[in-house]
Amino acid sequence: MTDLAERMLGALIGAVELCTVELGRKLGLYAALRDGPLTPAELAKAAGIDERYAREWLEQQAAAGFLTPSFELTPDVASVLLDEGGPDYAGAAAEFAVGVALLTPRVIEAFRTGEGVPYSEYADVRHGIAGFNRPMFDHLLTTEWLPAVPEVDALLRSGSGAAVLDLGCGMGYSSVALAVAYPSITVRGVDLDPDSIAAARSVAAAAGVADRVSFAVGDAAGALSGSYDLVTIFEALHDMGDPVGVLRAARGVLAPGGSVFIADERVADTFTAPAGEVERLQYAFSVLHCLPATRAENPVIANGTILRAPTLLGWARDAGFGSPSVLDIENEFWRFYRLR
Ligand SMILES: C[S@@+](CC[C@H](N)C(=O)[O-])C[C@H]1O[C@@H](n2cnc3c(N)ncnc32)[C@H](O)[C@@H]1O
Repeated sequence: MTDLAERMLGALIGAVELCTVELGRKLGLYAALRDGPLTPAELAKAAGIDERYAREWLEQQAAAGFLTPSFELTPDVASVLLDEGGPDYAGAAAEFAVGVALLTPRVIEAFRTGEGVPYSEYADVRHGIAGFNRPMFDHLLTTEWLPAVPEVDALLRSGSGAAVLDLGCGMGYSSVALAVAYPSITVRGVDLDPDSIAAARSVAAAAGVADRVSFAVGDAAGALSGSYDLVTIFEALHDMGDPVGVLRAARGVLAPGGSVFIADERVADTFTAPAGEVERLQYAFSVLHCLPATRAENPVIANGTILRAPTLLGWARDAGFGSPSVLDIENEFWRFYRLR
Protein backbone atom coordinates (compact mmCIF):
# COMPACT_ATOMS: atom_id res chain seq x y z
CA MET A 1 0.00 0.00 0.00
CA THR A 2 1.36 3.47 -0.83
CA ASP A 3 1.82 6.04 1.93
CA LEU A 4 -1.12 8.01 0.60
CA ALA A 5 -3.38 4.95 0.47
CA GLU A 6 -2.38 4.15 4.06
CA ARG A 7 -3.14 7.71 5.07
CA MET A 8 -6.57 7.53 3.43
CA LEU A 9 -7.34 4.27 5.23
CA GLY A 10 -6.29 5.72 8.59
CA ALA A 11 -8.45 8.78 7.97
CA LEU A 12 -11.41 6.59 7.03
CA ILE A 13 -11.06 4.56 10.23
CA GLY A 14 -10.94 7.81 12.23
CA ALA A 15 -13.93 9.28 10.39
CA VAL A 16 -16.24 6.29 10.83
CA GLU A 17 -15.18 5.82 14.46
CA LEU A 18 -16.04 9.49 15.11
CA CYS A 19 -19.53 8.76 13.75
CA THR A 20 -19.90 5.85 16.20
CA VAL A 21 -18.79 8.17 19.03
CA GLU A 22 -21.53 10.57 17.99
CA LEU A 23 -24.04 7.69 18.21
CA GLY A 24 -22.84 7.04 21.74
CA ARG A 25 -23.12 10.69 22.71
CA LYS A 26 -26.45 11.49 21.05
CA LEU A 27 -28.15 8.29 22.24
CA GLY A 28 -26.83 8.63 25.80
CA LEU A 29 -24.93 5.32 25.58
CA TYR A 30 -21.73 6.61 27.22
CA ALA A 31 -23.82 8.31 29.90
CA ALA A 32 -25.58 5.02 30.60
CA LEU A 33 -22.19 3.31 31.04
CA ARG A 34 -20.89 5.85 33.53
CA ASP A 35 -21.83 3.81 36.59
CA GLY A 36 -20.29 0.57 35.34
CA PRO A 37 -20.31 -1.91 32.46
CA LEU A 38 -23.63 -3.04 31.02
CA THR A 39 -24.66 -6.05 28.96
CA PRO A 40 -26.30 -5.30 25.60
CA ALA A 41 -29.72 -6.00 27.14
CA GLU A 42 -29.00 -3.68 30.07
CA LEU A 43 -27.68 -0.91 27.80
CA ALA A 44 -30.69 -1.28 25.49
CA LYS A 45 -33.06 -0.90 28.45
CA ALA A 46 -31.14 1.96 30.06
CA ALA A 47 -30.84 4.03 26.85
CA GLY A 48 -34.12 2.99 25.22
CA ILE A 49 -32.49 1.48 22.12
CA ASP A 50 -32.70 -1.82 20.25
CA GLU A 51 -30.72 -4.66 21.87
CA ARG A 52 -29.10 -6.01 18.69
CA TYR A 53 -27.78 -2.53 17.84
CA ALA A 54 -26.63 -2.14 21.46
CA ARG A 55 -24.53 -5.32 21.19
CA GLU A 56 -22.92 -4.28 17.90
CA TRP A 57 -22.08 -0.80 19.23
CA LEU A 58 -20.61 -2.18 22.50
CA GLU A 59 -18.43 -4.65 20.60
CA GLN A 60 -17.32 -1.99 18.11
CA GLN A 61 -16.48 0.48 20.88
CA ALA A 62 -14.39 -2.15 22.64
CA ALA A 63 -12.73 -3.13 19.34
CA ALA A 64 -11.90 0.55 18.75
CA GLY A 65 -10.45 0.85 22.25
CA PHE A 66 -13.01 3.35 23.58
CA LEU A 67 -14.43 0.73 25.99
CA THR A 68 -12.57 -2.08 27.76
CA PRO A 69 -13.18 -5.64 26.49
CA SER A 70 -15.76 -6.00 29.29
CA PHE A 71 -17.60 -2.87 28.03
CA GLU A 72 -16.37 -0.63 30.80
CA LEU A 73 -16.14 3.14 30.29
CA THR A 74 -13.02 4.19 32.20
CA PRO A 75 -12.97 7.60 33.94
CA ASP A 76 -10.25 8.79 31.54
CA VAL A 77 -12.38 8.04 28.49
CA ALA A 78 -15.47 9.53 30.16
CA SER A 79 -13.64 12.80 30.79
CA VAL A 80 -12.70 13.06 27.09
CA LEU A 81 -16.05 12.00 25.60
CA LEU A 82 -18.62 13.10 28.18
CA ASP A 83 -17.43 15.83 30.50
CA GLU A 84 -18.43 18.95 28.54
CA GLY A 85 -16.52 21.94 29.82
CA GLY A 86 -13.90 19.75 31.53
CA PRO A 87 -10.24 20.37 30.70
CA ASP A 88 -9.89 17.09 28.75
CA TYR A 89 -13.18 17.25 26.85
CA ALA A 90 -12.84 16.45 23.13
CA GLY A 91 -16.22 14.86 22.41
CA ALA A 92 -16.98 17.87 20.21
CA ALA A 93 -14.66 16.38 17.57
CA ALA A 94 -17.38 13.83 16.78
CA GLU A 95 -20.06 16.52 16.58
CA PHE A 96 -17.85 18.63 14.32
CA ALA A 97 -17.11 15.77 11.93
CA VAL A 98 -20.73 14.69 11.61
CA GLY A 99 -21.82 18.33 11.35
CA VAL A 100 -19.62 19.17 8.37
CA ALA A 101 -20.35 15.84 6.68
CA LEU A 102 -24.11 16.49 6.89
CA LEU A 103 -23.69 19.82 5.08
CA THR A 104 -21.28 18.57 2.40
CA PRO A 105 -24.03 18.18 -0.25
CA ARG A 106 -24.93 21.87 0.32
CA VAL A 107 -21.27 22.84 0.01
CA ILE A 108 -20.94 20.89 -3.24
CA GLU A 109 -23.83 22.94 -4.62
CA ALA A 110 -22.30 26.16 -3.27
CA PHE A 111 -19.02 25.41 -5.04
CA ARG A 112 -21.00 25.22 -8.31
CA THR A 113 -23.14 28.32 -7.77
CA GLY A 114 -20.75 30.48 -5.78
CA GLU A 115 -23.44 31.07 -3.17
CA GLY A 116 -22.99 30.67 0.57
CA VAL A 117 -24.36 28.23 3.15
CA PRO A 118 -25.73 30.19 6.15
CA TYR A 119 -24.11 29.56 9.53
CA SER A 120 -27.59 28.84 10.92
CA GLU A 121 -27.78 25.65 8.83
CA TYR A 122 -24.71 24.13 10.51
CA ALA A 123 -26.50 23.13 13.74
CA ASP A 124 -24.11 20.35 14.80
CA VAL A 125 -21.11 22.49 13.92
CA ARG A 126 -22.44 25.28 16.14
CA HIS A 127 -22.54 22.81 19.04
CA GLY A 128 -19.15 21.40 18.04
CA ILE A 129 -17.55 24.85 18.11
CA ALA A 130 -19.06 25.64 21.49
CA GLY A 131 -18.07 22.26 22.88
CA PHE A 132 -14.53 22.57 21.59
CA ASN A 133 -13.96 26.14 22.79
CA ARG A 134 -15.74 26.01 26.13
CA PRO A 135 -12.96 24.19 28.03
CA MET A 136 -10.55 26.97 26.95
CA PHE A 137 -12.95 29.66 28.14
CA ASP A 138 -13.61 27.87 31.43
CA HIS A 139 -10.00 27.00 32.19
CA LEU A 140 -7.69 29.44 30.38
CA LEU A 141 -9.47 32.67 29.47
CA THR A 142 -9.41 34.31 32.90
CA THR A 143 -6.51 32.40 34.44
CA GLU A 144 -3.91 32.67 31.64
CA TRP A 145 -5.03 34.74 28.66
CA LEU A 146 -6.36 37.94 30.19
CA PRO A 147 -3.79 37.93 33.03
CA ALA A 148 -1.21 38.12 30.19
CA VAL A 149 -2.47 41.70 29.73
CA PRO A 150 -2.12 42.81 33.38
CA GLU A 151 -3.86 46.18 33.12
CA VAL A 152 -6.91 44.64 31.46
CA ASP A 153 -7.08 41.84 34.04
CA ALA A 154 -6.61 44.37 36.86
CA LEU A 155 -9.41 46.58 35.54
CA LEU A 156 -11.80 43.63 35.29
CA ARG A 157 -10.86 42.52 38.83
CA SER A 158 -11.00 46.03 40.29
CA GLY A 159 -14.67 45.86 41.22
CA SER A 160 -15.35 49.06 39.28
CA GLY A 161 -18.06 47.42 37.18
CA ALA A 162 -16.16 47.32 33.87
CA ALA A 163 -18.21 46.73 30.72
CA VAL A 164 -17.25 44.05 28.17
CA LEU A 165 -18.62 43.55 24.65
CA ASP A 166 -18.19 40.01 23.27
CA LEU A 167 -18.63 40.07 19.48
CA GLY A 168 -19.46 36.82 17.65
CA CYS A 169 -20.16 35.31 21.08
CA GLY A 170 -21.77 32.14 19.67
CA MET A 171 -23.44 30.10 22.42
CA GLY A 172 -22.10 32.51 25.05
CA TYR A 173 -19.54 30.42 26.92
CA SER A 174 -16.87 33.13 26.69
CA SER A 175 -19.29 35.84 27.91
CA VAL A 176 -20.40 33.65 30.82
CA ALA A 177 -16.85 32.60 31.77
CA LEU A 178 -15.89 36.29 31.95
CA ALA A 179 -18.86 37.15 34.17
CA VAL A 180 -18.22 34.19 36.47
CA ALA A 181 -14.54 35.06 36.95
CA TYR A 182 -14.98 38.83 37.34
CA PRO A 183 -18.01 39.30 39.61
CA SER A 184 -18.42 43.08 39.16
CA ILE A 185 -18.39 43.28 35.35
CA THR A 186 -21.26 43.35 32.88
CA VAL A 187 -21.00 41.56 29.55
CA ARG A 188 -22.95 42.12 26.33
CA GLY A 189 -22.73 39.33 23.76
CA VAL A 190 -23.63 39.94 20.10
CA ASP A 191 -23.96 37.31 17.38
CA LEU A 192 -25.58 37.10 13.97
CA ASP A 193 -27.05 33.64 14.60
CA PRO A 194 -30.41 33.67 16.49
CA ASP A 195 -30.13 30.04 17.62
CA SER A 196 -26.71 30.73 19.14
CA ILE A 197 -28.10 33.72 21.05
CA ALA A 198 -31.09 31.70 22.33
CA ALA A 199 -28.65 29.05 23.59
CA ALA A 200 -26.38 31.73 25.10
CA ARG A 201 -29.26 33.11 27.18
CA SER A 202 -29.86 29.63 28.62
CA VAL A 203 -26.14 29.18 29.33
CA ALA A 204 -26.04 32.48 31.25
CA ALA A 205 -29.19 31.62 33.20
CA ALA A 206 -27.83 28.18 34.13
CA ALA A 207 -24.59 29.77 35.36
CA GLY A 208 -26.55 32.27 37.49
CA VAL A 209 -25.13 35.36 35.74
CA ALA A 210 -28.09 36.40 33.59
CA ASP A 211 -28.39 39.62 35.63
CA ARG A 212 -24.95 40.77 34.36
CA VAL A 213 -24.78 39.11 30.94
CA SER A 214 -27.11 40.17 28.13
CA PHE A 215 -27.21 39.01 24.53
CA ALA A 216 -28.43 40.44 21.24
CA VAL A 217 -28.79 39.12 17.72
CA GLY A 218 -26.99 41.43 15.33
CA ASP A 219 -24.20 42.05 12.87
CA ALA A 220 -21.04 43.07 14.70
CA ALA A 221 -20.31 45.51 11.87
CA GLY A 222 -23.68 47.17 12.38
CA ALA A 223 -24.35 50.13 14.60
CA LEU A 224 -22.94 49.13 17.99
CA SER A 225 -23.91 51.38 20.87
CA GLY A 226 -22.68 51.93 24.42
CA SER A 227 -19.22 52.30 25.87
CA TYR A 228 -16.98 49.33 26.71
CA ASP A 229 -13.70 48.90 28.55
CA LEU A 230 -12.96 45.72 26.66
CA VAL A 231 -14.21 44.28 23.38
CA THR A 232 -13.49 40.58 22.82
CA ILE A 233 -13.75 38.53 19.61
CA PHE A 234 -13.07 34.81 20.02
CA GLU A 235 -12.51 32.77 16.85
CA ALA A 236 -15.09 34.85 15.04
CA LEU A 237 -13.35 37.72 13.20
CA HIS A 238 -12.39 35.42 10.32
CA ASP A 239 -16.09 34.47 9.97
CA MET A 240 -17.36 38.03 9.75
CA GLY A 241 -18.22 39.39 6.32
CA ASP A 242 -16.91 42.88 7.03
CA PRO A 243 -14.00 42.39 9.44
CA VAL A 244 -12.58 45.90 8.99
CA GLY A 245 -16.08 47.32 9.56
CA VAL A 246 -16.36 45.20 12.73
CA LEU A 247 -13.02 46.48 14.05
CA ARG A 248 -13.98 50.05 13.19
CA ALA A 249 -17.32 49.62 15.02
CA ALA A 250 -15.49 48.08 18.01
CA ARG A 251 -13.09 51.03 18.09
CA GLY A 252 -16.08 53.37 18.05
CA VAL A 253 -17.52 51.94 21.29
CA LEU A 254 -14.26 51.71 23.27
CA ALA A 255 -14.19 53.73 26.48
CA PRO A 256 -11.06 55.88 26.99
CA GLY A 257 -8.14 53.50 27.63
CA GLY A 258 -10.15 50.52 26.40
CA SER A 259 -8.83 47.84 24.06
CA VAL A 260 -9.89 44.97 21.83
CA PHE A 261 -8.76 41.42 22.68
CA ILE A 262 -8.93 38.95 19.81
CA ALA A 263 -8.26 35.23 19.57
CA ASP A 264 -8.12 33.77 16.08
CA GLU A 265 -6.46 30.87 14.34
CA ARG A 266 -2.79 30.11 14.98
CA VAL A 267 -1.70 29.64 11.38
CA ALA A 268 1.50 30.45 9.50
CA ASP A 269 2.16 34.04 8.43
CA THR A 270 2.20 33.02 4.76
CA PHE A 271 0.72 30.20 2.71
CA THR A 272 2.80 27.07 3.32
CA ALA A 273 2.20 23.61 1.86
CA PRO A 274 2.22 21.05 3.21
CA ALA A 275 1.02 22.79 6.36
CA GLY A 276 1.17 21.72 9.99
CA GLU A 277 -1.62 19.61 11.50
CA VAL A 278 -3.60 22.47 13.07
CA GLU A 279 -3.50 24.48 9.85
CA ARG A 280 -4.64 21.41 7.91
CA LEU A 281 -7.62 21.11 10.26
CA GLN A 282 -8.42 24.81 9.89
CA TYR A 283 -8.13 24.70 6.09
CA ALA A 284 -10.53 21.76 5.89
CA PHE A 285 -13.01 23.67 8.04
CA SER A 286 -12.52 26.69 5.83
CA VAL A 287 -13.51 24.72 2.75
CA LEU A 288 -16.44 22.92 4.38
CA HIS A 289 -17.80 25.54 6.76
CA CYS A 290 -16.26 28.96 7.39
CA LEU A 291 -15.90 30.19 3.82
CA PRO A 292 -19.42 29.03 2.75
CA ALA A 293 -20.90 30.55 5.95
CA THR A 294 -19.20 33.91 5.41
CA ARG A 295 -20.20 33.97 1.76
CA ALA A 296 -23.83 33.75 2.92
CA GLU A 297 -23.35 37.17 4.63
CA ASN A 298 -22.92 39.04 1.30
CA PRO A 299 -19.43 39.82 2.50
CA VAL A 300 -17.09 42.69 1.84
CA ILE A 301 -14.26 40.21 2.56
CA ALA A 302 -14.72 36.43 2.66
CA ASN A 303 -11.50 35.43 4.37
CA GLY A 304 -12.16 31.81 5.36
CA THR A 305 -10.71 30.24 8.49
CA ILE A 306 -7.07 30.96 7.70
CA LEU A 307 -6.66 34.38 9.24
CA ARG A 308 -2.92 35.08 9.17
CA ALA A 309 -1.36 37.53 11.63
CA PRO A 310 -0.22 40.05 8.99
CA THR A 311 -3.75 40.14 7.55
CA LEU A 312 -5.36 40.73 10.94
CA LEU A 313 -2.86 43.44 11.89
CA GLY A 314 -3.45 45.13 8.51
CA TRP A 315 -7.23 45.09 9.07
CA ALA A 316 -6.67 46.63 12.52
CA ARG A 317 -4.60 49.47 11.04
CA ASP A 318 -7.25 50.02 8.32
CA ALA A 319 -9.83 50.31 11.11
CA GLY A 320 -7.78 53.03 12.79
CA PHE A 321 -5.91 51.17 15.53
CA GLY A 322 -2.47 52.71 15.95
CA SER A 323 -0.77 49.93 17.86
CA PRO A 324 -2.20 46.50 17.19
CA SER A 325 0.03 43.74 18.58
CA VAL A 326 0.35 39.98 18.79
CA LEU A 327 0.28 38.85 22.42
CA ASP A 328 2.77 36.42 23.87
CA ILE A 329 0.24 33.74 24.88
CA GLU A 330 0.85 30.08 24.12
CA ASN A 331 -1.99 28.05 22.64
CA GLU A 332 -2.09 25.15 20.22
CA PHE A 333 -5.04 26.51 18.23
CA TRP A 334 -5.24 30.28 18.64
CA ARG A 335 -3.08 33.38 18.35
CA PHE A 336 -3.98 36.42 20.45
CA TYR A 337 -4.03 40.11 19.61
CA ARG A 338 -4.57 43.34 21.45
CA LEU A 339 -5.73 46.39 19.50
CA ARG A 340 -5.43 49.91 20.91
C1 LIG B 1 -16.51 29.99 15.04
S1 LIG B 1 -17.91 30.74 15.81
C2 LIG B 1 -17.24 31.25 17.37
C3 LIG B 1 -18.28 31.45 18.42
C4 LIG B 1 -17.75 31.80 19.82
N1 LIG B 1 -17.01 33.03 19.85
C5 LIG B 1 -16.89 30.67 20.34
O1 LIG B 1 -15.67 30.80 20.38
O2 LIG B 1 -17.44 29.62 20.71
C6 LIG B 1 -18.07 32.26 14.93
C7 LIG B 1 -19.30 33.06 15.34
O3 LIG B 1 -19.29 34.30 14.64
C8 LIG B 1 -20.64 34.63 14.37
N2 LIG B 1 -20.67 35.63 13.30
C9 LIG B 1 -20.33 35.48 12.01
N3 LIG B 1 -20.48 36.64 11.35
C10 LIG B 1 -20.92 37.55 12.24
C11 LIG B 1 -21.25 38.93 12.18
N4 LIG B 1 -21.14 39.59 11.03
N5 LIG B 1 -21.67 39.56 13.30
C12 LIG B 1 -21.78 38.87 14.47
N6 LIG B 1 -21.48 37.55 14.59
C13 LIG B 1 -21.05 36.91 13.50
C14 LIG B 1 -21.26 33.30 14.00
O4 LIG B 1 -22.68 33.34 14.05
C15 LIG B 1 -20.62 32.39 15.04
O5 LIG B 1 -21.40 32.30 16.20
